[in-house]
Amino acid sequence: MAAEGRAEEQIQAEEEIQAEEQFDLDADEARRQVEETLDSLEADLVGLSAVKERVREIAALLLVDRARQQLGLSSSRPTLHMSFTGGPGTGKTTVAQRMAQILHALGYIRTPRVHTVTRDDLVGQFIGHTAPKTKEAIARAAGGVLFIDEAYYLYRPENERDYGQEVIEILLQEMESERASMVVIFAGYEDRMDTFFSANPGLSSRVPHHISFEDYTHEELVRIADLMVERENFRFAPAAREAFADYLALRMQKPRFSNARSVRNAVERCRLRQAKRLVELRQPLTREDLVTLVDEDVRGSSLFRPATADAIPGTTTL
Ligand SMILES: Nc1ncnc2c1ncn2[C@@H]1O[C@H](COP(=O)(O)OP(=O)(O)OP(=O)(O)O)[C@@H](O)[C@H]1O
Ligand SMILES: [Mg+2]
Repeated sequence: MAAEGRAEEQIQAEEEIQAEEQFDLDADEARRQVEETLDSLEADLVGLSAVKERVREIAALLLVDRARQQLGLSSSRPTLHMSFTGGPGTGKTTVAQRMAQILHALGYIRTPRVHTVTRDDLVGQFIGHTAPKTKEAIARAAGGVLFIDEAYYLYRPENERDYGQEVIEILLQEMESERASMVVIFAGYEDRMDTFFSANPGLSSRVPHHISFEDYTHEELVRIADLMVERENFRFAPAAREAFADYLALRMQKPRFSNARSVRNAVERCRLRQAKRLVELRQPLTREDLVTLVDEDVRGSSLFRPATADAIPGTTTL
């Protein structure tokens, strides 16, 4: 009787010790790495506050999961397949890379690599060709992230025998299994992706994290331009910056506007015009000359010219 009582006391004492056992998240090296990646996400990417918030949430979930594991609290590995929806050039690919770094820092995946594929990389032309192609893509993504761009092209309801369906079935199996231990990110335009997921509920139920990327506002696009210019060791002269803001206001209204990608392309073309201007100066160039983009480097864009080129079919006025 007395021995039993002592054993009970012992168990109780052990439980108390366990309850007081601590895990200091701040001392976790992974936390430091994650904080670094989150800080650079903050510094490198303008806007996207909702996206950044979701990335923080996922990082927190994994950090706490690590702490729980250390203290022997078992739970199943969280499912982290995701969908990134949004317009062109809204940062989906860029955020996928950062996400891979975070997942890697937290030990969730073995490598921070993102393997990007589209329908053509997965679907074969002939019967029997699809499974090997899809499996090869999965093998390449193994341990990292498989990023499927414009994922809805995998589903073609108009064609009953489309091989895309086979890809979806293989993906379903792999997403459940620990074998490849990869994270799949489905990316594409919001509306088409909604249709894709509604038509494939099995897939949808395995993707718990939906992150949507909004189009950038004019003000954000101007800040993105500033950031890109600065990072390349250039700067806008004040009038050039104003001109660039005007350029963006016009460009946003035009077809095929692609958010930050259009900003990048426009900055590249300003650099071309600057280079041409400097070469034609035929005089020694100062550091100031080399770094400065002036008003005419921006206003040289055909977008500011009267709409002549617009009238020619197939001509892009950028
Ligand atoms: N918020 C941002 N701040 C700064 N640069 C950005 C931002 N978003 C995107 N960019 C830059 O714009 C370019 C396009 O971004 P990215 O390729 O990530 O977009 P995407 O959504 O994947 O586009 P797509 O749908 O066309 O594949 C990249 O050069 C990226 O660095
Ligand atoms: Mg992309």
